[in-house]
Amino acid sequence: MLDKLIQEARSVRKFKQEAISMDTLEEMVSVARYSSSTRNLQALRYVLINDKKTVETIFPETRWAGYIEWSPKKEESPVAYVVVCRDRMLDIADNFLHFDMGIAVQNIILKAKEMGYGTCILGAFSKDNIQNIIELGGDYEIGVMLAIGIPDEEVKIVDMNEGDIKYYRDEKNIHCVPKRDMKELIIKKI
Ligand SMILES: Cc1cc2nc3c(=O)[nH]c(=O)nc-3n(C[C@H](O)[C@H](O)[C@H](O)COP(=O)(O)O)c2cc1C
Repeated sequence: MLDKLIQEARSVRKFKQEAISMDTLEEMVSVARYSSSTRNLQALRYVLINDKKTVETIFPETRWAGYIEWSPKKEESPVAYVVVCRDRMLDIADNFLHFDMGIAVQNIILKAKEMGYGTCILGAFSKDNIQNIIELGGDYEIGVMLAIGIPDEEVKIVDMNEGDIKYYRDEKNIHCVPKRDMKELIIKKI
């Protein structure tokens, strides 16, 4: 069951325009609380956004699917975002911060999937503009964002062809994500 959830929790970039309540967003993010963290510092903070106007203002500041000639249109765009921030008051090295972020974000992604929502991690966006849009004070720094909504596209894992890691859209417009074979991942069994 966990395998299925992980396999099906693919990055989604096309969403139905159905609103998500703040309670729903909060439920998704609640699992971040239980995440392991460096020195148990729990340095991450979250901004939950479902306000239509704010969501619309954020969208043009985001960048999508760099490998392909495609980006979601306004009418396909996410209906909510979770902005993952760090508390600058807490002293944590960047490499550990990023580790913590990965753990917390993956937990949120899986919870969202279980609740019927699709997500896409966003690392490519205009940080300064978004910091201004959400009026985030200087005590916090934005790390990544999660785009959220009900999926309106099919995404599937495919076998990798000659080491080509680039995702693509096939003839049926299905977003295909090549994954390396387990034989390549496990370099040694001792
Ligand atoms: C740290 C990080 C940053 C990412 N930033 C973006 C982004 O800015 N825009 C985007 O469309 N996808 C982004 N992605 C999603 C990746 O492109 C995606 O994970 C990859 O294509 C594999 O697809 P999968 O998540 O379905 O396995 C990001 C993923 C990670 C882990």
